[in-house]
Amino acid sequence: VENVGILAMELYFPSQYVDQTELEKFDGVSAGKYTVGLGQTKMGFCSDREDINSICMTALHRLIEKNSINLHDIGRLEVGTETIIDKSKSVKTYLMTLFAEQGATDVEGIDTTNACYGGTAALFNAVNWVESSSWDGRKAIVVAGDIAVYGKGPARPTGGAGAVAMLIGPDAPLVLDCGVRASYMTHAYDFYKPDLASEFPYVDGKLSIKCYLSALDNCYNLYCKKMRKVESDFKGLLSLDGMLFHSPYSKLVQKSLARVCFNDFLNASPEEREHQFPGLSDFSSHKLENTYFDRDVEKAFMTYSEPLFDEKTKPSLHIAKNLGNMYTASLYGGLASYLVSKSPEQLIGKKFGLFSYGSGLASTMYSMNICNDMSAGSKLAKLINSLNEAVSMLEIRRSVPPSEFNDSMEVRTKNYHTAPYQPSGSIDTLFPGTYYLIDIDDLRRRYYKRK
Ligand code: ACO
Repeated sequence: VENVGILAMELYFPSQYVDQTELEKFDGVSAGKYTVGLGQTKMGFCSDREDINSICMTALHRLIEKNSINLHDIGRLEVGTETIIDKSKSVKTYLMTLFAEQGATDVEGIDTTNACYGGTAALFNAVNWVESSSWDGRKAIVVAGDIAVYGKGPARPTGGAGAVAMLIGPDAPLVLDCGVRASYMTHAYDFYKPDLASEFPYVDGKLSIKCYLSALDNCYNLYCKKMRKVESDFKGLLSLDGMLFHSPYSKLVQKSLARVCFNDFLNASPEEREHQFPGLSDFSSHKLENTYFDRDVEKAFMTYSEPLFDEKTKPSLHIAKNLGNMYTASLYGGLASYLVSKSPEQLIGKKFGLFSYGSGLASTMYSMNICNDMSAGSKLAKLINSLNEAVSMLEIRRSVPPSEFNDSMEVRTKNYHTAPYQPSGSIDTLFPGTYYLIDIDDLRRRYYKRK
């Protein structure tokens, strides 16, 4: 099989958001902290009507409907999430209720969890399966989704919620590069969820940023090394048309692109440095490991990289800025944003890098190519059209005042473990086609309906 990758893609996010400027006022922080300091505009959130099963199901059902998928043609269904509502039963098993309607049960795959990395792990599993001797000729589906919520405090404005669903198979318009994926995995307590009685993580914000940036350095350098083995003139960022990152908040992504440039600078020969990085020679002796919070390095390379950021990365941040962190789906929301910002003609033949990070920690840098041939071209046009429809729904969401957002968070917190439980959130305000929770019974079994 050839050109294994993403054939089709769908996206779901809740129909309500809180405005970050209003949230700054409500939280009593200085004006600009969330909007300029974190680079966030709006944050999507769910009422108690939605949980991880329902948001993943909504995204999956949309993918199936829009692409008229026969579920007997799906041999693998993978879910990436870190939103845990059951210590044993996977979200994938709930998604099988949709397959059951068509009598389809021969479907491999299960949930994958490690913070925001699970979506990427699920994608790799699906692609690997199609490329393996276990493959039976059918397609795979990957669903990545999360409800990202934090306790009161500085991390709360970096929440978000949403899910993506992707159809995986051969002859795809978006093809993963083979043999050059570069991972960096190690142990850290930067963000973790040890309290099973709470939906909120324990987070050491500063440590998580340091871990993210050091994972980026490690993955990027290893990726470049592997790329140079297959393309001897590979020039790092200069050889990539786009550079996409997991986005906890947009500002960190902008800093990450500056960091990629700092890596390219350190890896360049003295002559290349003079030529490609004029005026930055003072930083020649700086080391990666001492500069995670070095303001001078950060400022110099943020300035240097601004045009590169505008061209290669900014288009990928539209959903991240207006919705927030979707955890496992964040990078794929970045992919969707990037794709809808361009026409198929602009995309054909392009290559872009993707950096996936999940606290704890697991991270990979990999790359995708947009296929050149005509049949992939028409699939690409269809994929972009469909994503355009989904992304434009950001504009028809309901703005909810921070006090209402706060009340909604309190309802979620208070009832996280309540059973039996009847959710009270509004059904009227949900987008058509949204799955919602109707009941949790005394045995904690959950029941849903579709709007
Ligand atoms: N105007 C403009 N900028 C401002 C203002 C203002 N009025 N006030 C503050 N800022 C800036 C700060 O200077 C800072 O900028 P910097 O990042 O360039 O230093 C930024 O806003 C954030 O403010 P801080 O006071 O540094 O940070 P805070 O303690 O509020 O917490 C943090 C920020 C750590 C990101 C927190 O929101 C958090 O813990 N988030 C969750 C963890 C996270 O997302 N980690 C990333 C990787 S792991 C993952 O994906 C979950």
